[in-house]
Amino acid sequence: MADTERTFVMVKPDGVQRGLIGDIVSRFEDRGLKMVAGKFMQIDQDLAEEHYGEHADKPFFDGLVDFITSGPVFAMVWEGQDATRQVRAMMGETDPAESAPGTIRGDYGLDLGRNVIHGSDHEDEGANEREIALFFDEEELVDWDQIDESWLY
Ligand code: PPS
Repeated sequence: MADTERTFVMVKPDGVQRGLIGDIVSRFEDRGLKMVAGKFMQIDQDLAEEHYGEHADKPFFDGLVDFITSGPVFAMVWEGQDATRQVRAMMGETDPAESAPGTIRGDYGLDLGRNVIHGSDHEDEGANEREIALFFDEEELVDWDQIDESWLY
């Protein structure tokens, strides 16, 4: 059985504007993942530049920062077995055009820059811890047990 872990996920401004928060939260709940933090917030320039810092030299960096600060986002932390890879699989590919129907980007995205959702990269060790700490204080992460989880899943 894979390890239980926590992963950082964020509905981007286009997903918020299109009213997709509820659907996206439902998908993760239905899958059996557990939300341990959630925050509706506006990202400022400094946070955006830090969050996407590794892409600072990419041609799309300025546009990406403009986009992620263009309106509110819904930042979350989800917990579950192999949660980072599970979430990434449910999100689809970075480019919505390459995302299979049934994935979040495959169902809702068309544009590479407007791809609805962000999830920590499972190939980047430490990404979850880094991004969770960037968006949430320790006391905002809620430890709770799902009732009778042994028969639920
Ligand atoms: S890379 O080059 O492979 O490291 O980049 P990638 O991991 O695919 O993408 C990093 C984030 O940048 C977004 N992205 C873009 N935004 C706007 N325009 C273009 N062309 C573009 N290409 C990539 C991509 O959605 C990633 O954002 P997150 O929030 O991590 O999904």
